[in-house]
Amino acid sequence: MTGLPPHLAVTADAYDAVAVLYAELFHDALDRLPLDRAVLAAFADLARAAGAGPVAELGCGPGYVTAHLRDLGLDVFGVDLSPVMIGLARAAHPDLRFETGSMDALDLADGTLGGIVSWYSVIHVPPPELPLYLAEFRRVMAAGGTLLLAFFEAEGGPVTPFDHKVVTAYRWPIDDLAALAHEAGFTEIGRMLREPEKDERFRRGHLLLRAR
Ligand SMILES: C[S@@+](CC[C@H](N)C(=O)[O-])C[C@H]1O[C@@H](n2cnc3c(N)ncnc32)[C@H](O)[C@@H]1O
Repeated sequence: MTGLPPHLAVTADAYDAVAVLYAELFHDALDRLPLDRAVLAAFADLARAAGAGPVAELGCGPGYVTAHLRDLGLDVFGVDLSPVMIGLARAAHPDLRFETGSMDALDLADGTLGGIVSWYSVIHVPPPELPLYLAEFRRVMAAGGTLLLAFFEAEGGPVTPFDHKVVTAYRWPIDDLAALAHEAGFTEIGRMLREPEKDERFRRGHLLLRAR
């Protein structure tokens, strides 16, 4: 993809190349993951109760989490760097809005979102850049809005790159990610850790936060 900084172009190209396979593998992943569904349900309840505006899934890939959030009653749309992913999301969910874009430079006015879900998308952000992404999330979020971050947890180690099957990703200590989110203007509501399921490698971390 042209016009992107080099590391984002690498990520976009890598996801473009695997998008069809990715969608086939993961479109029904939530059916097998009750704790993941529980944290998404908690997010939906919190976002609905806050009533702070529409919700964006940033890094939505083929859009199955976006569709799940719609099924939970949210006014939701998806954004992804990969044009092929966005094409698949639109084809699979023609009733939903999906846009190509980068979550560090959103085409949204200040304070317009009532919620953001980043479901395994900040995992690819080089750690020194993550504060800039979280600042962008806070910029577009109304006060009282809800943020959900899902990621690979570092299990006692420091922030660590690993050989993610698509493109380099990072495992984060949940406390470090919570601290960065706090510095960006989000207050923690709660967290959920779950152990890897069969065929998964790492512990999964989930942070629910409120924009202050
Ligand atoms: C591991 S996939 C997760 C996709 C989807 N949320 C899911 O759970 O299946 C990561 C996604 O984040 C997207 N992504 C990575 N960096 C991004 C960025 N800066 N802005 C928008 N999307 C990004 C990738 O294109 C990819 O579709």
